[in-house]
Amino acid sequence: MATNRTFTMIKPDAVENGHIGGILNMIAEGGFKIVSLKLTQLTLADAKAFYAVHATRPFYGELVEFMSRGPIVAAILEKENAIEDFRTLIGATNPADAVEGTIRKKYATSIGENAVHGSDSDANAAVEGAFHFAGREQF
Ligand code: PPS
Repeated sequence: MATNRTFTMIKPDAVENGHIGGILNMIAEGGFKIVSLKLTQLTLADAKAFYAVHATRPFYGELVEFMSRGPIVAAILEKENAIEDFRTLIGATNPADAVEGTIRKKYATSIGENAVHGSDSDANAAVEGAFHFAGREQF
């Protein structure tokens, strides 16, 4: 299986609630290598651009307000089968449906404030990683 990369954000709810360390620990325990990492904050315009693919969905306004309301942690992660394995590690979008042992089961509070993002394809991981990190910041 190929080694590849995914992109993640620890979302404002999880940062506000003091879960950066706990989530990074679950990521490391899950076998992911951190190749880029920073604490940052999206402007509303940044969040609208990042989530542009969801612009027609009913929750778009709520999503972009939430994602820009406070600091986030952005990271690029590397592992064999990174996209699929990371989505397994974070669990279902709605924490009510997330299984035991997943990040969202442990740290998410609602479908809107669900603690972490994970890319859904290799192509999107590359685009999302480049949104946050210059080439020289990707190790
Ligand atoms: S996914 O992970 O892309 O398959 O999930 P999807 O259901 O398509 O959701 C896309 C992103 O929108 C967020 N989301 C919501 N935000 C606010 N309210 C509601 N009801 C809601 N439903 C979904 C979801 O967390 C996804 O954001 P990311 O950052 O990709 O996790």
